[in-house]
Order: sequence, then structure tokens, then C-alpha cells
Amino acid sequence: MPTASDRRTFAIISHPDAGKTTLTEKLLLFGGAIHLAGEVKARGAARRARSDWMKIEQQRGISVTSSVMTFEREGVTFNLLDTPGHEDFSEDTYRTLTAVDSAVMVIDVAKGIESQTRKLFEVCRLRNVPIITFVNKVDREGRPVFETLDEVADLLQLDVTPMTWPVGMGGAFEGIYDLRSNRLLLPEGPSREFQGKVVETTGLDDPKLDELLSAEGLANLREDAELAMAGYAEFDGEAYRNGDLTPVYFGSALKEFGVDSLIKALAEYAPPPRPQPAEPAPVDPSNPEVTGFVFKVQANMDPNHRDRIAFMRLCSGTFKRGMKLIPSGHGKPIAVHSPILFFARERELADEAFPGDIIGIPNHGTLRVGDTLSERADVRFTGLPNFAPEILRRVALKDPTKTKQLRKALDDMAEEGVTQVFYPEIGSNWIIGVVGQLQLEVLLSRLDAEYKVAAGLEPAPFETARWVSSEDPADLKTFADLNRTAMAKDRDGNPVFLAKSAWEVGYVADRYPNVRFAATRER
Ligand code: G4P
Repeated sequence: MPTASDRRTFAIISHPDAGKTTLTEKLLLFGGAIHLAGEVKARGAARRARSDWMKIEQQRGISVTSSVMTFEREGVTFNLLDTPGHEDFSEDTYRTLTAVDSAVMVIDVAKGIESQTRKLFEVCRLRNVPIITFVNKVDREGRPVFETLDEVADLLQLDVTPMTWPVGMGGAFEGIYDLRSNRLLLPEGPSREFQGKVVETTGLDDPKLDELLSAEGLANLREDAELAMAGYAEFDGEAYRNGDLTPVYFGSALKEFGVDSLIKALAEYAPPPRPQPAEPAPVDPSNPEVTGFVFKVQANMDPNHRDRIAFMRLCSGTFKRGMKLIPSGHGKPIAVHSPILFFARERELADEAFPGDIIGIPNHGTLRVGDTLSERADVRFTGLPNFAPEILRRVALKDPTKTKQLRKALDDMAEEGVTQVFYPEIGSNWIIGVVGQLQLEVLLSRLDAEYKVAAGLEPAPFETARWVSSEDPADLKTFADLNRTAMAKDRDGNPVFLAKSAWEVGYVADRYPNVRFAATRER
């Protein structure tokens, strides 16, 4: 009988090119979900071709949308949530991270921690998401192992524990030694390319090692391992699950090295579903009532149907197909007759799902990001943030008779989390806000393809936005009255201050100490 404790729901965070796609393929391959490497990309391309606006993805060769992949191994079900890896990521990426219980951070052994990895790491830290580090591409020349470990520790302020150790790198690569199980992973095959043999040893002084490794490789391994064990924290499962320590694995996704150890680590150490923050109280996965929240909505996956898929993370209870669930948004129960589980090969109809699983619920726009779904409508999950946009643009409508369509389109996309929309108090120039440049292109392309609205984007005299609030409504009113030209409302009618610069935010925050300027808003 499957339970929540068999589930490992995780995401991979990385900078573009570190090897996330390759590692994803290999995880699925080792998990038995696909048989040919390369299918992830192919499948992605086929999926993308389905919708017009997704052309951007094809042109730029990147994936804007997140998907869910499920595989099983030795009684554990892994749900891997894909996060877009491009620099111009959107709030989608952040929100996906609210639906996972842990993350794998992939870094390139030659490049170390890069900007995108760091941003995504910060989001994980906000929620204490535990992280396993996978240092990829050891089949190529890279930086010394100690340098990589120290960088992770210093930049991310984490304790690090090397769990495995590469014997040489690049041309001198001989294998990987597992410091905890004392196993040596060796390459095999005609070109000695792939992880083939696993040799059990009694420890680093096992004489067997002399026959398996070169004298130099072994001497270095012994010396390094000794230094490492003295210099780095011992592995502590609790510190890892609290997000204070990261176990570090080395490998090569391309050569299938160390991938197996990574899956084992996820099964053994990564946390199963945890209680989720909610009102009136956190929801424990063992709670029999079915509850979950929508962390992503994908519209128009099929241009012939105005359907949407809401991605719900199940937080408690056993979901059964046909069940009626009540969305927190409007309270009218919906019967979930055709839920979708996202297996790697194809979409499959789900009959049952357990805490930690992701269910795709087709709907016609009734479900919104941030909605709680539950059997009795007595809980509401909290903590799905809206982020302050970093780019603001004024929307210029080319055909003024299309105002209504434009408003609907902007509201729809705000709902999906593609862009945010702000309606200024003065004037009729609606302003949209995004976290990354790519979202602007997505917006224009979708306005045109799906809503038949021709619009352009013009520079806005603002650079960022803050949600404003105050204990005393009078303080907020005073502030708003004095700054009317910079006040707007978001899609839900919340007051927003549009700022000319980050500096201005600091300036007004100093001047109005009783007003709160929030860079995120909880939905
Ligand atoms: P991403 O999703 O994180 O952006 O990275 P992706 O997996 O697409 O990998 C980026 C490049 O790095 C690819 O090469 C890939 O083959 C290579 N790569 C991934 N893992 C390893 C590894 O362990 N060792 C080595 N040596 N290379 C690795 P590419 O030439 O850019 O793409 P492709 O033509 O191979 O698809």
C-alpha cells in the first residue's frame, strides 16, 4: 500500500548548461521510466509544437514551462518537478519550488556556483528546502575538489559533507570512491566510458585498491579523503533536512557516473512530504482529508480547446478519481473526473494519488495559482508568493475597441503567473510587470495568438513595485494621497506603489516608517 513516506518530490536547480537536462534523462533512465536517452528533449519538442505561443520556446531552444516526471525505484516513487533553467525565468520557477520537499543542485565542476543556481538556492533557503549537491562533468577537467566544496560552503553558507570523491578528473579520471559505503565505482566498456563495475572495499587501506587504481590516483585519493574527513562536517541527516548541510556527490551525467548514488541518496536521505504551512494550522500528510494546492496553471496546452491544466500538489489524504474537491477561490465543489499523473512517457489517467504527488486537473479557468483544494474547505495553504517585478512596461493597445479583450487577457495571464498587471490610480495606461525579459515576449505572443489583441509594450517610468500596507489605514491613506501618480492596484485590488528605482523604495520606506513596502505578496 503506497503512502506519503514512499514519496520523494523534488526539483533540480542549476544554471543553464550545467547538465540538468542530461541528469534528468539519466534519472529517468535509471528509474526505468524511459529506455532511450534523448527522449526528454524529443518529448519536450513534440509537446511544445502543440501550442502557438510555445513557438518562442522552440526558437530560443528553451523550455518556459515546467513539467512533472514520475518514476519508481525499489518501492520509492520519485516526482521530479522541472524548473525552467533559462536566465529569464519567471515566477513559475519560484512557485514550483514551493511544491517540492527537496532539491538537487547541479553544478558544473569547471564553473562552480553560477548566478542562476544562486538565485534558485536563495528561494530554497527561504523555505528551508534541503539540498543534495551533484557536482557534474568530472569526466572533464575541472576545478580541484576542495575548491568546489569550499565555494559551496562559503557562498551558500552551508555545511558541506563530501559523500563521494572523484579519483582524478578529465583524462586522468579513474572512478569515484564512495566515502560512506567504501565502494569504488569504476568505468567499464571498450572506451571505459560508463560506470560499470562497483567494487566493495573494506576502506581506503584495502589492498584491493592498489590493483584497481594507478599509484598516483590512489595516493591522491587517500590523502584527499583524509583531509576531507578531518576538514568537513560529518553527514548529519537532521542538519541536511533542516537545510543547514548539503551532502555532495560527484559524477558525470553524460557518462552515467554517480547517478545511481544520487538516486540512492534521494531515497535514503531526502525527506518524504512534510507538514505544509496552512491556516488555521499546518497540514500533516497523515491527515486523512484530501488537501492540496495549485502551484501552476498552464493555459491553452491545446489551441483547439480553451482548457487549462492546474497542477496541484497533494498535501494529505488519498486522492481518488472522481472525488469532489472545493477550491478556496470560490467555494463551489468541482468533481475531478479526469486527473492526470505525469509519467515520463506519456500522460496517464490517475486513479489514485498520495501526498507528495502532483495531479493535473483540466478546467476552464476556475482554478488559480495559490488555490487550496480540499474536501471540506476548512483549510487554506499559505506561502505561495508573488514576487516584486523587476521589469515594468506600459501596454499600448493598437486597436482601442479591444480594451475589454486586453483586460481579460492581462487578468488571465496574471492569474497564471505569467505576468503581473497593475492598474494605475490615475490614467488609463495599464502596466505589466515581469521578473524576466522572456515573459514579455510570451505575453505579446499570447495576446496575439490567443486573444487576437495587437498590442505593444512601451517603457514605463517605473522600475519596480511594492505592495503597500499599514497597521493604521490612515497612515496608508496619507501615503497614497501624497503619491497618487505612483499608486496602482494589482489584479486583486491590492494597493501597489510603483517606484522609479530601488533607491526610491528605500527613500520612501525611510520617510513613511508606518507603511510596509513588501517585495512579495502572499497569495
Ligand atoms: P542544462 O539542461 O542544464 O542546460 O544542460 P544540458 O543537460 O543540456 O547539458 C549542457 C551541455 O553539457 C550538453 O552539451 C551536455 O551534453 C553536456 N553535459 C551534460 N552533462 C555532462 C557531463 O557529465 N560531462 C560532459 N562532458 N558533458 C556534459 P552540448 O554539447 O551543449 O549539447 P548536446 O549537443 O550534447 O545536446
